[in-house]
Amino acid sequence: MASVTFDDVSKHFPGGTAVRDFSLEIADREFLVLVGPSGCGKSTTLRMLAGLEEISEGTIRIGERAVNNVPARDRDIAMVFQSYALYPHMTVYDNMAFGLSLRKMPKAEIRRRVDGAAQILGIEQLLDRKPKALSGGQRQRVALGRAIVREPAVFLFDEPLSNLDAKLRVQTRAEISKLHQRLGTTFIYVTHDQVEAMTMATRIAVMNLGELQQVGTPQQLYDHPANLFVAGFMGSPAMNFFRVTTTEDNGRLRLEAAGLRLDVPREQEGRMRAYLGKEVILGVRPEDIHHSEFVPTGLANTSTVRVRVEITELMGNEIFLYLAAGGTQFLARVDPRAGVKAGSEVEVAFHMSRMHVFDTESEEAVVTAVSEIADVSEAPTSDQSTVRAG
Ligand SMILES: Nc1ncnc2c1ncn2[C@@H]1O[C@H](COP(=O)(O)OP(=O)(O)O)[C@@H](O)[C@H]1O
Ligand SMILES: [Mg+2]
Repeated sequence: MASVTFDDVSKHFPGGTAVRDFSLEIADREFLVLVGPSGCGKSTTLRMLAGLEEISEGTIRIGERAVNNVPARDRDIAMVFQSYALYPHMTVYDNMAFGLSLRKMPKAEIRRRVDGAAQILGIEQLLDRKPKALSGGQRQRVALGRAIVREPAVFLFDEPLSNLDAKLRVQTRAEISKLHQRLGTTFIYVTHDQVEAMTMATRIAVMNLGELQQVGTPQQLYDHPANLFVAGFMGSPAMNFFRVTTTEDNGRLRLEAAGLRLDVPREQEGRMRAYLGKEVILGVRPEDIHHSEFVPTGLANTSTVRVRVEITELMGNEIFLYLAAGGTQFLARVDPRAGVKAGSEVEVAFHMSRMHVFDTESEEAVVTAVSEIADVSEAPTSDQSTVRAG
């Protein structure tokens, strides 16, 4: 068991910089998910920690020990990759035992560890099989088993579910979460999939273009994204964005664009006053735009707008409405009882307490959603919930 610390870590390749000034403290036993779009530097960050890539600048510590110059095999970590690369001529047992045999571990101890891992993963009955006689999901479990038998201080995962079909991905996701609870070890997990990040992480670190954007619990990132990038990346379907101007009418602040006229909630007026007369970017999540006849009871601060319905998608438990107002297209997730037809006009209610506002130049958040549910996930120290690299 161990904590992991990145201290101003950068990675330069001849072609450019893959990771810049990356600083992050990962607590012992945490399940930290590093998420971001393809090419943003996630694998490079993980590979520097694993010892597979040299660190250009900065320090990485596992526990108290700086590992910059420690060879990969002595770092007490195990890594699971997307391609699990099992040895095809070896049985499942031998695939899991191989790394331990290389280290000249006594046979009885190897048996104890392989049997233990097989039991945790529910693959005891497969130990004599060769990889070709396994399904994709079973092979991925063997790859997990190979990491578990090492009994490392830190587990690293680099997109381990990408080769599995959608259903198996959801199932294996839950198994990895259970594995984390059972082993009580530090997990660092890389993915481009924000749904995996939201569902598995105790804390998420979002990266873009080689830089850390924000660190926090899933709920914190969802409700209080620090900037436009995090707001647009976390959440599916994604947050809607509108270019609006802050106006004042009879002492009340509004956000306006062609076809849109929304009231700023009183509790946000203080922060918005600095933007009076200026353009800002308004962010509203699809679930915060309701059909005006199906607004949940007790919702304060709603602003209604008449808009055109372009397309409807019935999802069963809700309807997705693709809407347009003043040239901006946006999505609302509304009550399935709202029988809305494409091509018609509809009145929708924006739940303005949940609005996000971003500065058009810095793209930093000026206002984020007012939380109406308590954040029950493991809270980090407050000074770590927002990190803006640069
Ligand atoms: N060995 C390398 N040599 C040169 N550039 C590399 C190398 N490995 C990665 N990169 C570059 O670094 C950036 C980050 O890559 P990577 O860490 O693999 O991203 P991710 O895992 O987030 O998709 C990319 O632009 C990639 O092309
Ligand atoms: Mg990668």
